[in-house]
Amino acid sequence: MLATMLAKSLFPTCLSPNQRITTFSGMGRNKKGRKALFCWLKYWSISNNMLDDSRNRWMNFYNDIKDPSWPECCNEHEFWSLPNWIQHEIFELHNGREYVCLESQDIEDLIDYRQQFLDQGNHNISSDCVFDQKFPVGNNFYVYYSSNMLSGGAGVAQEYPRVMRYLYPDVKFKNCLNWCGGAGFIGFRFLADGICEHVTQMDCFPPAVDACKLTVSHMPTHFVDCVDIVQSYTIAGMDTNKKFDLVVGRPPVVQLKKYSVNHYSADGIRLGLDPGLQIHQEFFANIGNYLTDDGVILLQKNVERSDASDFEQFINAGGLKITKVFREKSYPLLYYMEIKRQ
Ligand SMILES: C[S@@+](CC[C@H](N)C(=O)[O-])C[C@H]1O[C@@H](n2cnc3c(N)ncnc32)[C@H](O)[C@@H]1O
Repeated sequence: MLATMLAKSLFPTCLSPNQRITTFSGMGRNKKGRKALFCWLKYWSISNNMLDDSRNRWMNFYNDIKDPSWPECCNEHEFWSLPNWIQHEIFELHNGREYVCLESQDIEDLIDYRQQFLDQGNHNISSDCVFDQKFPVGNNFYVYYSSNMLSGGAGVAQEYPRVMRYLYPDVKFKNCLNWCGGAGFIGFRFLADGICEHVTQMDCFPPAVDACKLTVSHMPTHFVDCVDIVQSYTIAGMDTNKKFDLVVGRPPVVQLKKYSVNHYSADGIRLGLDPGLQIHQEFFANIGNYLTDDGVILLQKNVERSDASDFEQFINAGGLKITKVFREKSYPLLYYMEIKRQ
């Protein structure tokens, strides 16, 4: 009975009951079964608005098709270091191109997408942190973190680099700011992938800053001078006189009306909510002072929580303009907003 209820909630509408049962009982035993399981999980997590941190798509895909003789390859950037014959096999036999790089048909323009969820919440902090987990962003390069710093950083945030390569194929940015960077999943990954030469990890949460320091103390030595770590609640309060040519981040989002603030834990509020969009307003009002003339801001956001029009007024007031709003067709829950100087 419990199993039936679980199966129904996991796989509500899209297959016949027989198909559901076959897939469910066979899951994970063979490659086909595992592939089906990943499809189910993807469908389920998107439809349930989960930012699942086990869902690094490259890892799922590669581990699923990997022959035991093949080397480890923890992200799609490292794909390009695999022997040519494996790259060929991944593209031709396993149809893996979509896991490696984005093309224009993978992108959906959202400039007209409008949705409004806005409410109020409180802001709390928990300081109970042990950095007992680590996530690979490159070869011998691990991000250290604790579970109260995880909000998609090891999952959906790992979509970012492919989007960067799609938008700015041959660009190596000089100074990247990872705004609301938490334990630094995005910024450290950009460094590992060679998307930027230097990253400034910024977050308000002191333990997240400590986690970044721990990561720096363990990362490959040639990156050691490539990271600054800043603790601040505001952009204006950042202790740096650097100018950034790239600013990225997954800031807290607009609160869903269907939940009251009591629905969230203290960490959930810090990770997830921007009451009255105050954090965004301050960001857009001041980030221009830290942006190079040709600098670009690219934020990753959630379609159920906001759309570009929620921020447009703040963006324009800060002397900036929205230049692109889009999402990956295969990841409809996320959208990206690109912003430049007016
Ligand atoms: C959605 S989480 C994203 C964390 C990380 N970028 C990731 O992808 O895992 C939002 C982050 O913003 C931080 N944060 C919340 N309010 C902030 C503020 N006013 N200034 C800076 N960081 C803030 C939280 O501590 C949290 O780490």
